[in-house]
Amino acid sequence: MTNVAIIGTQWGDEGKGKVVDLLSEGADLVVRFQGGNNAGHTLVVGDQSYALHTVPSGILRPGKVSVIASGVVVDPEDLIVEIRALVKRGVTISPANLKISEKAHMIMPYHRLLDVARENAAGSQRLGTTGRGIGPAYEDKAARVGLRLLDLRSPDVFIQKVERALQEKNCLFENLYKVPSLKAETVAARVLALRDDLLPYLTDVTSYLRAAGEQGLNILFEGAQGVQLDVDHGTYPYVTSSNPTTGSVAVGTGLAPKRLENVLGLVKAYTSRVGEGPFPTELKDEVGDQIRERGREYGTTTGRPRRCGWLDAVVVRAAVKLCGIDHLAITKLDVLSGLGELKIASHYELDGEKLLWPPASLLDLARVKLVYRSSPGFDEDIKTARKLTDLPKGARAYLDLVEELVGCPPALVSVGPERDETIILNRYF
Ligand code: IMP
Repeated sequence: MTNVAIIGTQWGDEGKGKVVDLLSEGADLVVRFQGGNNAGHTLVVGDQSYALHTVPSGILRPGKVSVIASGVVVDPEDLIVEIRALVKRGVTISPANLKISEKAHMIMPYHRLLDVARENAAGSQRLGTTGRGIGPAYEDKAARVGLRLLDLRSPDVFIQKVERALQEKNCLFENLYKVPSLKAETVAARVLALRDDLLPYLTDVTSYLRAAGEQGLNILFEGAQGVQLDVDHGTYPYVTSSNPTTGSVAVGTGLAPKRLENVLGLVKAYTSRVGEGPFPTELKDEVGDQIRERGREYGTTTGRPRRCGWLDAVVVRAAVKLCGIDHLAITKLDVLSGLGELKIASHYELDGEKLLWPPASLLDLARVKLVYRSSPGFDEDIKTARKLTDLPKGARAYLDLVEELVGCPPALVSVGPERDETIILNRYF
């Protein structure tokens, strides 16, 4: 029995869907522990492509159990739409293979409205959120006015809680954001209408996971977003409202931290970012456009074009230390073929000082000078490589440079979107 956490080391979109799907072959359980339907994990299985948002990526593997733990914020309406769409495509989903924590907080219709109204009002100060209501839902959780999925069991109490939550929000809607206020009964009725669909999935996930560990089952923890979007350790305030760092596995599931055994850090072979905020290695030129088109860097959740740039070893190095990453999974290496000389930011300089980690202040981050290392690059199609020795010299040199700069070896290198287009050096299960 073992367990592995998969953590995004950059700004999300590192290709977690494929890696989780691959590793889930040997896992018994796949667990989402933070974030919500702001995530978009793309999986390609044969000629079919799936974009998952709240449902864990294990759902596509028959015989595995997918778990949504209490650290996730769940949009009940969106989740039901996602489940129905998957079922329509032939995926089996039932309470036997999908367990949802009864303690998970819900993203309510007023959270989505508040997220969008705030962003619209912020103008040039907007964060570029996914508009899914993620921030407002986590705010209500911390403010202790959130609704948990278990509240669906008691409709009378549910309505009272919605009334309470709306007292403040309607003030904001009417007076500050000038959008129509919401009626508690209407909102409550809309969500309560999904009771029969959702209640069978509700589970005491903490006890379930503890028992699974005691039975010797293999557990894969599927992170969402990336370290630089972490509300404590990322490029605040241009972050999401949860912690995509490893500590969230324990907090978001209720499993003791010492039970976590392996951490795999996902690193895209270059960098992308969607939304506003600093991005030191961004390429606002033809090379950036080429990476975007070849890597199909458009948001899975919002369809927004992603900003693209060179790999930043400063960012990945920080993630390795913060998250206790044992190995890297390097994804989308094939996208770099034919780009000519490749660059990686090795460190920053600020006022003559060498920085190995990103500074906390965005004012400082805006002033850093980037110091790059170059690698000659490669022109070959590498999709058929299954061993490191199958790779052309230029691709291997690039991987060696990543390992040298980041200080962590790869366990897996993805050379194409398909399941088998992968070099596997270390299988955890
Ligand atoms: P929110 O999570 O919707 O509040 O958005 C906050 C920031 O995180 C925005 O810059 C989003 O674009 C970004 N973000 C949230 N989820 C993801 C993701 O799964 N991949 C990449 N960026 C994300």
